Amino acid sequence: MEKNYKRHLVTAALPYANGAIHIGHLAGVYIPADIYTRYLRMRGEDVRFICGSDEHGVPITIKAKQNNCSPQEIVDKYHVIIKDSFEKLGINFDIYSRTSSATHHKTAADFFRKLYEEGKFIQKESEQYFDEEANQFLADRYIVGTCPKCSAEGAYGDQCEKCGSTLSPTELINPKSALSGNAPILKKTSHWYLPLDQYEPWLREWIVEGHKEWKVNVYGQCKSWLDGGLQPRAVSRDLDWGVPVPVEGAEGKVLYVWFDAPIGYISNTIELMPNDWEKWWKSEDTKLVHFIGKDNIVFHCIVFPSMLKAYGDGFILPENVPANEFLNLEGNKISTSRNWAVWLHEYLQEMPGKEDVLRYVLCANAPETKDNDFTWKDFQTRNNSELVGIFGNFVNRAVVLTHKYFQGGVPKIELGFTAMESELEKEMLNIKRSIEDNIENYKFREALREAMNLARMGNKYLTDTEPWKLAKSDMDRVAVILNVSLQICANLSIAFEPFMPHVAQKLRDILNMNTFEWDQLASLSILSSNHQINPASLLFEKVEDEQIEFQVNKLEQTKQESKKEEPELAPLKPECTFDDFMKMDIRTATVLEAERVPKTDKLLKLKIDTGLDIRTIVSGIAEYYTPEEMIGKQISILANLAPRKIKGIESKGMILMAKEENGDMKIVTPEGKLINGATIG
Ligand code: 2FM
Ligand code: ZN
Repeated sequence: MEKNYKRHLVTAALPYANGAIHIGHLAGVYIPADIYTRYLRMRGEDVRFICGSDEHGVPITIKAKQNNCSPQEIVDKYHVIIKDSFEKLGINFDIYSRTSSATHHKTAADFFRKLYEEGKFIQKESEQYFDEEANQFLADRYIVGTCPKCSAEGAYGDQCEKCGSTLSPTELINPKSALSGNAPILKKTSHWYLPLDQYEPWLREWIVEGHKEWKVNVYGQCKSWLDGGLQPRAVSRDLDWGVPVPVEGAEGKVLYVWFDAPIGYISNTIELMPNDWEKWWKSEDTKLVHFIGKDNIVFHCIVFPSMLKAYGDGFILPENVPANEFLNLEGNKISTSRNWAVWLHEYLQEMPGKEDVLRYVLCANAPETKDNDFTWKDFQTRNNSELVGIFGNFVNRAVVLTHKYFQGGVPKIELGFTAMESELEKEMLNIKRSIEDNIENYKFREALREAMNLARMGNKYLTDTEPWKLAKSDMDRVAVILNVSLQICANLSIAFEPFMPHVAQKLRDILNMNTFEWDQLASLSILSSNHQINPASLLFEKVEDEQIEFQVNKLEQTKQESKKEEPELAPLKPECTFDDFMKMDIRTATVLEAERVPKTDKLLKLKIDTGLDIRTIVSGIAEYYTPEEMIGKQISILANLAPRKIKGIESKGMILMAKEENGDMKIVTPEGKLINGATIG
């Protein structure tokens, strides 16, 4: 560890309490943070792991409106679901509180008041979108429109989820209120702003010069924010849900959720250690590390540090902010609104006893340096080939053979080690160092791979030495091999404690091992001779094809459902020129006669009046319109299409039809009655 810190304060992003936790959250934030803190605790470090629900902000009030209930009811519901599912997965927070707590409201309000009194804010009047029908200002996600950067529909006033751009409401094209769907008006309102621009030189010095060791994605994002120039950022909102702005004349205004949420790290620490918290937040001996997802980088590296700097009073800054990239699911972006996710609370119910398998797979495949994909097939393969096939298989063989040849007692070693065991010892020491180095540098995938190498090594050792064959001739050598194998099992139970705590405990139960510490790792004398171990029981079970099919079908169903809601539009055709378009003669016409084309299901033969002539068109619309329905209808046609023979009838032109995503077709009719032959273009 670079500097000798006396204590470690580790925070994990406070999840919004408007939905459950999914695998993207876990892989990005909570599993790495939990591995890190478990490791530090095992090393005897003084650690506090802080988290809690983020219970303010527009997404919560929108969810409440959708559900016809109060925001409090929403956060009460999800806070419990989230807290409970974290606990079951073994995410070992020292505190999991919530930002609706009295302690948080007070802490956040006091924080704001001090900055306000010291003149650290700018108060500014501006015009903001307002929904006249709902009689409400439209903060952040209350306003939706077309993204000015990528043209996606449904971008929010603060962010486009499609391209990830940070937006401000007035940038949206065609803005609409999420409350009424109406176009908003602009209305004057007054807010407090933190002048981030004033902190820019200091931030540059602190991050760009001082934290070159941060992860490339984090450092890069910070640098590009700084290079782009910082602007004052509003820290209040016109909303009725949140921490009320604690100054006179601020009725109807609350703190912006991104102002109060990070203060939640402080208030939750206060709740955990009311008398001692300052030592954790205001001492250079504390190492503060924020675990977050990449969408939170600017708030944790630029906004919150500027808030702390403005506050002064000895608040420390994060030593590191190891943000991960995003995890995709079966090739698509995880989406809460489209229900494209694997939800933790559902997983825990559907795959009981497999908490650590999820931890393993998500860590092995964590999006540490780039976005990554979770697939159920990979989940099955990793479980069956790696956990069952290597780790479980090795432990099982070592334990079963010890019972078979030594009645479950750790065999006493009477012979010296061969080169093979000496080599193992060396290799174990390398693995230990590598796990430490990787965890301390936030490279959890690599650390886990190294831990698995210990199991691989043990498996190979048994396969190479074949004690079951030696048992006929050389029990002294068998004793050495099984003793060493059991010592490797004990090592596994230590090395895997940060990654798979349930499995590590189960393994210690089998080994009848009551105490353990990190420093024992790489030792071949953890279990003493004659120590009695318990009977073998399986550490892992195979994941069957049916279990995977169940999960894949569940996702497939989600896809079908969201397809119904969100039509998948045909992709845009290649660009055409104005001249290309002008070649087409599109006109209005009226259907005079219509009849089915014999021996076909789809074709109608229509006689139409184009204003220029009376002609025949054969059209594949019989599935959608009866001949009677068509007679008298005004339609649009491509009038100069080269004639074609269809079922022996010459068809001159084509009726313009709109095709819906489900395949249904509708004729394109002009609005109101026009003369026949009017040109369209
Ligand atoms: O992105 C999110 O889910 C936020 N609720 C994270 C907040 S982290 C912190 F600042 F509280
Ligand atoms: Zn966009």
